[in-house]
Amino acid sequence: MSRHVSRRDFISLSASAAGATIATKAIVLDPTPIWATPQTVAPSDRVRFGIIGIGMQGNGLMANSLQLPGIECAAACDLYDGRHTLAREIANSPTLPVTRRYQDLLNNKDIDCIIAAVPDHWHKQIVVDTLSAGKDVYCEKPMSHSPADGVDMVAAEKKTGRIVQVGSQRVSSALLTKARELVHEGALGDLMMVEGVLGRNDPNGAWEYPPPPDLSPENLDWNTWQGTVPKVPFNPNIFARWRCWKEYGTGVAGDLLVHLMSGALYVLGVNEPPKRAMAMGGILRWKDGRNMPDVHNTIFEYATTQGTNISVVMRLNLGTDIPEGYRFMGSKGILDVTSDQITFTSQLGKDEAPSWYAGSFPKALRDAYYKQWHEEHDMPLEREKTIEATTYKGANYNDVKPHLWNFFQSVKSRQPVVENAVFGHHAALACHMANESYFRKSAVYWDEQAKAINS
Ligand SMILES: NC(=O)c1ccc[n+]([C@@H]2O[C@H](COP(=O)([O-])OP(=O)(O)OC[C@H]3O[C@@H](n4cnc5c(N)ncnc54)[C@H](O)[C@@H]3O)[C@@H](O)[C@H]2O)c1
Repeated sequence: MSRHVSRRDFISLSASAAGATIATKAIVLDPTPIWATPQTVAPSDRVRFGIIGIGMQGNGLMANSLQLPGIECAAACDLYDGRHTLAREIANSPTLPVTRRYQDLLNNKDIDCIIAAVPDHWHKQIVVDTLSAGKDVYCEKPMSHSPADGVDMVAAEKKTGRIVQVGSQRVSSALLTKARELVHEGALGDLMMVEGVLGRNDPNGAWEYPPPPDLSPENLDWNTWQGTVPKVPFNPNIFARWRCWKEYGTGVAGDLLVHLMSGALYVLGVNEPPKRAMAMGGILRWKDGRNMPDVHNTIFEYATTQGTNISVVMRLNLGTDIPEGYRFMGSKGILDVTSDQITFTSQLGKDEAPSWYAGSFPKALRDAYYKQWHEEHDMPLEREKTIEATTYKGANYNDVKPHLWNFFQSVKSRQPVVENAVFGHHAALACHMANESYFRKSAVYWDEQAKAINS
């Protein structure tokens, strides 16, 4: 090899020189969940839930819950009467009790637990009131609308001893459970970093939802809907597109990043706030009057269970469609997580070819170096190094049903849920820190003593 040799040449030579081969295999993750098998549940063993908020997410939560064995809906609450009709349609019961006042559900002795799928600015009040009424609650993500809300919710969970399940359902997926197992058994070696990405490129994806055509102050309690936020005149767009404004929603961070964060923290086995966060972004595409960024990139620093600090890099973009996924990177390989499969590809972490730096040696020295390198590193075929790529396939990791099932089982058994208020608080704090850093244009950290985000 006397010509100038580039790095690319070395890489293409490497497999034959060092004898590395790639072995691939695919494994189907096929959990047979109890909830999917037909069964009769004794009336005394059934769980009766009440649902607060039957909007875009609540309608699916209600329908999914009713498909689980032994789970019944006792009543539904919404401030918009059209969703009373919708709830009765989902329950296939024209007599399902419906109300605008969620307190009616909390006072109802027939209701064991509550599902709350209301906009973020209502989460805290409804969760604290539900727990104080002695009921368990499944609350949608992001758990909190502000760090202070999260602190109050954790305190209420602790004080009442009731169950809180936060609705970032990724943590109930068999795919992420497998990913967690791989990370914890050391398949990745020393953890180096994690990256997550999610992008959309359409008005729906950017939350420009069509308000219900008949919405009016007559069939909606607009005053209550606004909660403690400074009141504005009736506005159907705010009702449907509340995510665009920080007064009601938590931006891309609370809407989408929280799913990635919850999944990443679950896989890493981390249950604490980031050590710090630095975010950048802007309103680059959807200049529709929103005050939350549509491109939002954040670098977090987390302490791992390995005793090291790693970067978790999250890239959210409502202006370009990008499939949601993660990459967990370590000294022994890389774990790619997509929506319906995870692939672990091992890396040798060793030179697979002579150094490309030797291209800078005079010929005689170079030739001698190559000869010696090959004598020391080339392997007989039977001992050749193998790079393994293992793919685990499964159902989509957007696992609402298993997540609800986990909640209902805990309501019965009083065993801990997979995503309690402490975990929900920590995942939400990452999102609040991403927002704070974006608005402050500086790195931020969570001050546990002051219970506040500081820069
Ligand atoms: N886990 C997921 O994948 C996922 C997906 C979508 C939404 N979400 C979350 O679900 C929650 C709801 O989102 P959405 O898109 O369904 O919102 P939405 O606006 O479509 O529905 C919310 C409903 O709550 C009702 N509501 C508001 N305040 C109320 C109150 N005080 N009492 C009774 N009803 C009240 C509204 O009238 C509305 O019908 C949000 O926290 C959101 O982040 C989670």
